Amino acid sequence: MTNPAVSDLIARSNRLGADPKNTNYAGGNTSAKGSEIDPVTGESVDLLWVKGSGGDLGTLTEGGLAVLRLDRMRALVDVYPGVEREDEMVAAFDYCLHGKGGAAPSIDTAMHGLVDAAHVDHLHPDSGIAIATAADGEALTKQIFGDTVVWVPWRRPGFQLGLDIAAIKAANPQAIGCILGGHGITAWADTSEAAEANSLRIIETASAYIAANAKAEPFGPALDGYAALPVAERRAKAAALAPTLRAIASRDRRMVGHFTDSDVVLDFLAAAEHPRLAALGTSCPDHFLRTKVKPLVLDLPATATVEESIARLWELHESYRADYQAYYDRHATAESPAIRGADPLVILVPGVGMFSYGKDKQTARVAGEFYVNAINVMRGAEGLSRYAPIDESEKFRIEYWALEEAKLQRMPKPKPLATRIALITGAASGIGRATAVKLAAEGACVVIADLDGAKAEAAAAEIGNSDVAIGVVADVTDEAAVQAAVDAAVLAFGGLDLVVNNAGLSLSKSLLETTVADWDLQHDVMARGSFLVSKAAAKVLIEQKLGGDIVYISSKNSIFAGPNNIAYSATKADQAHQVRLLAAELGEHGVKVNGVNPDGVVRGSGIFAGGWGAKRAAVYGVPEEELGAYYAQRTLLKREVLPEHCANAVFALCGPDMTHTTGLHIPVDAGVAAAFLR
Ligand SMILES: NC(=O)c1ccc[n+]([C@@H]2O[C@H](COP(=O)([O-])OP(=O)(O)OC[C@H]3O[C@@H](n4cnc5c(N)ncnc54)[C@H](O)[C@@H]3O)[C@@H](O)[C@H]2O)c1
Ligand SMILES: [Zn+2]
Repeated sequence: MTNPAVSDLIARSNRLGADPKNTNYAGGNTSAKGSEIDPVTGESVDLLWVKGSGGDLGTLTEGGLAVLRLDRMRALVDVYPGVEREDEMVAAFDYCLHGKGGAAPSIDTAMHGLVDAAHVDHLHPDSGIAIATAADGEALTKQIFGDTVVWVPWRRPGFQLGLDIAAIKAANPQAIGCILGGHGITAWADTSEAAEANSLRIIETASAYIAANAKAEPFGPALDGYAALPVAERRAKAAALAPTLRAIASRDRRMVGHFTDSDVVLDFLAAAEHPRLAALGTSCPDHFLRTKVKPLVLDLPATATVEESIARLWELHESYRADYQAYYDRHATAESPAIRGADPLVILVPGVGMFSYGKDKQTARVAGEFYVNAINVMRGAEGLSRYAPIDESEKFRIEYWALEEAKLQRMPKPKPLATRIALITGAASGIGRATAVKLAAEGACVVIADLDGAKAEAAAAEIGNSDVAIGVVADVTDEAAVQAAVDAAVLAFGGLDLVVNNAGLSLSKSLLETTVADWDLQHDVMARGSFLVSKAAAKVLIEQKLGGDIVYISSKNSIFAGPNNIAYSATKADQAHQVRLLAAELGEHGVKVNGVNPDGVVRGSGIFAGGWGAKRAAVYGVPEEELGAYYAQRTLLKREVLPEHCANAVFALCGPDMTHTTGLHIPVDAGVAAAFLR
C-alpha cells in the first residue's frame, strides 16, 4: 500500500506542476519525510521521498521519486568535505537509498533532506525568480514578505546550498520559506497541505506585489517599426526565414526547431530595452543548458525584408559564434567538458517571433518555453528594480557542470532519423501512411500532407502528439497549397530534410476510354504534384545547407508496359525521370533524390479499395480479398507486398546507410522480371 505521505506528495506535486506560473517545465522538486517498517529489522525507519533527477512535477508518479534513509542522508553532513568537493556528495546519495531507491537522486536532494520540515517544495516561479534576479532582491524580499520569507544569496545548487537553507530555517523559525538569489524559491511546512499553501503564498504574494508596484513600461517605450506584423504576414515571414535560421542553429549539429509568436515574445521584441535585456541572458540554472546563456537577436525592424534579414542574420551568426567561443575560453578549465557547439539555441526576430532549437521537438519547444519564462522574469525584475542575473562565470559553471555533462553522456543513443523532419504527401492512407509510421519510429518528425485533412490529422494523432507528427491538408496539384504545406512543416519543426512524393491515384483505362480529364488528373496529381512539392521543398533544403532526401514513390509501371494504363503509367514514368533529373541537379546541394517502385500493394491501399481492386479481381477471376495473394503468385519471390515493405525501402534510401546513392529506384514488387532496371 502506498504510504499516505507519498500519495499526498504526488497529488501536491501534480497540482503545483500543472500551473506554469508555479514552475517551469521539469523545473523544481518536492519532497516528504515519513516512516515505514524496515523489512530487514521489523522496526520503523525514517525515509525521505524526493522527486528524482529529470521528469516534471505536473506528471510526477511514485516511480519518479528517489527514496532515501533520512538518518544516512543526514549523516553525510559529518563526512562532507566542503564546498569545493560538494559534487562528490551526489554519488554518496546512492549509499543512502532505501530498498532499490527509486529514481536517481538529483542535485537538490540535500536541500530536501537537510531542511528540518516534513514537506519541502523547491520551485522556479516567474514571479519568485523576478524577485530573485532583481538587483535589490534582498531588500525587496524584506519589503514584500517581512520576516516570513528569507533571502538566501546565490549559490549553485548542491550540498552547500542545502546546508545554507537548513541553517536559515533553523535561525528563522517563523519563516515559511526563502527566495534563492538568482534562482527560485523554497517553501516548507509540517504537513503537505501547509507546504503547498506556503509555496502558493510566496508565488502569489510576489506576483501581486509586482502587479501593484511595477512601473508602466518595464521594457521601455515602443520602438518604431518593431511592432508585431499582422498574423498572416508574420507567419509568411517566419516560414521564409526558417530555413536560414535552422542553418544558423545547425552549423555544429542538426537541430529541430520550434516557433512561437505569442504576445509575450512579440511585446518584448517591440520595446526599446529588449536588446540590452536579451544580452544579459537567462537566469534560472535550469535554463542555460536548453537556451544557452543568451539568444541571437536580429537587430532589424519588423519591416525589414526577408532578404535584408537573411543577410544580417548571417553576419550576426558569425559574431554570435565568436562571442560564445570567447565565453567558453574565458571560463573553461582543464577539467571542463568540451564546447557543445557555438550556435544559438534561441533566435529572436522582431515583429515575427522566436525560434528555439533542440535535439528533438520537445527539447526545442521547452527551450522556447524557458525563454518565455525568462521574459516574464525580466519584466518583473525590471518593473520593480533592475534585472541582474547571476555572473557569467557562474552561468558557465552550470552550463558546463561535470554532473550535467555526465547526464548528457548517459543519454541513450539517438535513433537513426533523429533531428530529421519528413514531409510525406498522400500519407493519410496506404504506402504513405506506412512510410510516416516507419520514419517516425526511426526518430523523424513527420508531416502528413493529404487531400483529406481530417484523415491526415487522424493518421498523425495515431503516430503521436504534435512533437512527433502533424497532419496538414494539401492538394498537391495546387501550387499555393503545396507552399502552405511546406510552410506548415517548417513552422512546426523548424525545417525540412526528407520529402516523400507519394500522393497518387490510379485510373485503369484503355487509350480509347481515357478522357482528357482522366489524363490531366493523373498527370496533375503525380507529375505536376511531385514537381510542385519537390520545387517548394528544394528551396528549403538548399537554404538550410544540410543536404536532404527526396524520395518518389513511382511504380513498377514506370518501367513495365501493359494495356489499359496509358495515363497512370505515363505519369509514373514522368515521376521516375524527375528522380534522375533532380538527382543530377540537386547533388551539388547534398540532396539525394531516389525512388521506390512498388507493385501489387493491395492491403491498406486506398487505390485498390476504391473499386480498382474489385475490377482487377474480376479480370483475373479471383475473389477481391484474395487479390494480394494472387499477385504474390505472379512474383519471383511469391510474396505479397505490403505498404510496410515500401516504407522500409524509403527508410533504407534516406537512413544512415545509403549516404552515397542518388538517382536510384528500388523495386519493391517481390520480383517482377519484366520491370527489372537496366
Ligand atoms: N498500391 C500499389 O500497388 C502501388 C503500386 C505502385 C505505386 N503505387 C503508388 O504509391 C502511392 C500511394 O498509393 P497507395 O496504394 O498507398 O494509395 P492510397 O489511395 O492508399 O493513398 C494515396 C493517398 O494520396 C492522397 N491523394 C490523392 N490525391 C491527392 C492530392 N491531389 N493531393 C494530396 N493527396 C492526394 C489520397 O487522399 C490518399 O490518402 C501512389 O503514388 C501510387 O501510385 C502504389
Ligand atoms: Zn532549482
